[in-house]
Amino acid sequence: MNLIEEVESILKEAQVFLPTSQTEEELDKNKNLFIGKKGKLTSVLKKLGNLSIEEKKAIGKRANEVSTELEETVNSLREKIKKEQLEKLIYSEFYDTLRPIKSQELGSLHPITKIQYEIEDIFVSMGFSIMDGPEVETDYNNFEALNFTSDHPARDMQDTFYVSDGNLLRTHTSAIQVRALKVLKPPFKIIAPGRVFRYEEVDASHENTFYQIEGMAVGKDISAANMVYTMNVLLTRIFQKEVKVRLRPGYFPFVEPGFELDISCTVCEGKGCAVCKQSGWLELLPCGLVHPNVLKLGGLDPNEWTGFAFGLGLDRLVMMRYGINDIRYFHSGNLRFLKQFV
Ligand code: DAH
Repeated sequence: MNLIEEVESILKEAQVFLPTSQTEEELDKNKNLFIGKKGKLTSVLKKLGNLSIEEKKAIGKRANEVSTELEETVNSLREKIKKEQLEKLIYSEFYDTLRPIKSQELGSLHPITKIQYEIEDIFVSMGFSIMDGPEVETDYNNFEALNFTSDHPARDMQDTFYVSDGNLLRTHTSAIQVRALKVLKPPFKIIAPGRVFRYEEVDASHENTFYQIEGMAVGKDISAANMVYTMNVLLTRIFQKEVKVRLRPGYFPFVEPGFELDISCTVCEGKGCAVCKQSGWLELLPCGLVHPNVLKLGGLDPNEWTGFAFGLGLDRLVMMRYGINDIRYFHSGNLRFLKQFV
């Protein structure tokens, strides 16, 4: 093959090979194989040495033409690649907003979350703020500052999951009372919903993970009457009817006096039935007046400030409202159960 034939064959080869480039990068690489500094065309020109001037001229001219032609080929291939890439992008990002879709099942709020939001609305309408706290708590916030000393027998009422660093999974939302006293200036009214944990054997009425809403109001001359009134508003709105309440003494180290608040049975209206075990009353929530030691540890003078507190168990409330007989449904992830509350 003489040199002019070589030039022609480079042109032919390039015209077949260059269009196989998929990307601009590849195209540049392939282009250099033919018309780059170290490309095939240059290596032909390096062989011109011994030829006559006419031959050099003729081959040089043809090589220039081929180079220009290939340059043009590369340019048009580059445009083509760019266009294809844009089309691909447009195609991949395109979606038809009007196209009917297979109807998708919507999720819904868990019944406990629903009742939590409802209760939050009720308290916000009475001027309470909503507070939050962490699920891993210090022993101080969960027990010590709530008047459970380290050897206090009442600690046994709450079987606790301890974390290796000495902290614990909060056993009640009452820990947020301590946080409230630390950060808020009285008078204040807060509720604090949250998940709590106890080392419990799980059965139809016991869970190791459940939900509470804590309430705390601190101010001047706050009495049990303020507490009962607040609870009455809450319960009437939750149960959508007038419910009677009664207080029985109850013991919690962080309230004095402490109470168990019962409501007239929502099923038999107090006449006596299987749900209330013929008593006409349902035990609903513990509450009381904030213990002076708790106020003191929170930096307040108990002669100046008083308050009430309560702890509402959300799981039991939802169970009462919907007649659910097994607490284990709540964390079961069972869609047949959950779909009833959509
Ligand atoms: N934290 C208590 C518990 O989980 C419930 C409780 C009792 C909360 C009395 C209160 C209260 O705020 O005043 O067993």
